[in-house]
Amino acid sequence: MIVVAAGSGSRLGASEPKAFVALHGRSILERSLDAVFGMAELAQVIVVVPESHRSRAEAIVAPADPRLVTVTVGGTTRQGSVAAGLAQLRPGIEVVLVHDAARPLTAPALFDTVVRLVRSSGDGVVPGLAVVDTLKQVDADFVTATVDRSRLSAVATPQGFPAAALLAAYAEARDDHTDDAALFAAAGHRVRVVEGDPRGFKITTPWDLRRAEQLLGETDAHAAAATRTGIGIDVHAFDEGAPLWLGGVFWPDEAGLAGHSDGDAVAHAICDALLSAAGLGDIGSRFGTDDPRFAGAHGEVFLSETVALVHGAGFRILNVVVQVVARAPRFAPRRAEVEARLSELVGAPVSVSATTSDGLGFTGRGEGVAAIATALLGG
Ligand code: CTP
Ligand code: MG
Repeated sequence: MIVVAAGSGSRLGASEPKAFVALHGRSILERSLDAVFGMAELAQVIVVVPESHRSRAEAIVAPADPRLVTVTVGGTTRQGSVAAGLAQLRPGIEVVLVHDAARPLTAPALFDTVVRLVRSSGDGVVPGLAVVDTLKQVDADFVTATVDRSRLSAVATPQGFPAAALLAAYAEARDDHTDDAALFAAAGHRVRVVEGDPRGFKITTPWDLRRAEQLLGETDAHAAAATRTGIGIDVHAFDEGAPLWLGGVFWPDEAGLAGHSDGDAVAHAICDALLSAAGLGDIGSRFGTDDPRFAGAHGEVFLSETVALVHGAGFRILNVVVQVVARAPRFAPRRAEVEARLSELVGAPVSVSATTSDGLGFTGRGEGVAAIATALLGG
């Protein structure tokens, strides 16, 4: 997989090379690489960049497996940059894809489709979209003919090729071609067209950059519309004779809490927050507070059941926050441990805070513990 990002972006006119310009908070190159890393099978990713931005690119790919990613410097033309990328190709790779970093919104599925078709056909494969405008041939200011657009396709990247044939075609190429498919076809090979991705347009001008910004803004808005919050409160009275389980952990030498279950108010408040966020009722209606199956049950029993219900309803848990109101036990020394345990049970970050109520009310008098939780779910 070769991602060419070595152009200067003269038509975009930004102060940095195009691939390093920010698009909705991250560089165009990072967004393109996100799509590439979304591919089902990936053997090697070669990122071709300007000499001046080599270390920037190396920092961008640093979190990826170094055996997977190679950064190299491009040439003065796109073709030269692809050739520089091909020079880094590891032996044994059968299918090569070439992709413009300047097409950051391309769907990962398109990469997989192109690979599959190259493999099954042995031909070159390019994504193309039907041309919607009527096209005219012109001579100076005059129209000389109308072109039959049914026979035209506007092609993009990723373009895929059998590796050996593409390497040979590049080695022989003398002319400058507008894309890799043209160079490949000039060497006598067949090129097929697959249905392209309208979001895979190339960012060329400032107007294209604005359009990409707007599309990403819409995606954010959809994600925000699918997020839901929930709240849950639980209270249990102290029971001197019982062991204390709170926040999913055992507290030795502390007074326990009364309840049909183990009285873990923190776990129960989280369950109610999760259930309410998902519109699934509450812990009482879901689990039956006097059901003998839950006699003495620990918080983790309710939490894992609740998490399964929330997932079953099609939600992802984004995070949970819980605050304990109690005179005892003291949470500060064990906060990290409780957070780790609850995060493990919930499968998302859970943060825990604790407060006293300044001597007021039942928590202030040390009669019991209250816990208040909120949960955020995504669609
Ligand atoms: N490209 C490259 N090396 C070059 C020229 C272009 O790797 N010498 C890459 C660009 O980084 C881009 C892709 O080829 O991802 C498509 O090229 P284009 O959109 O023309 O980008 P630029 O050449 O950077 O832009 P401009 O032509 O406006 O200067
Ligand atoms: Mg260019």
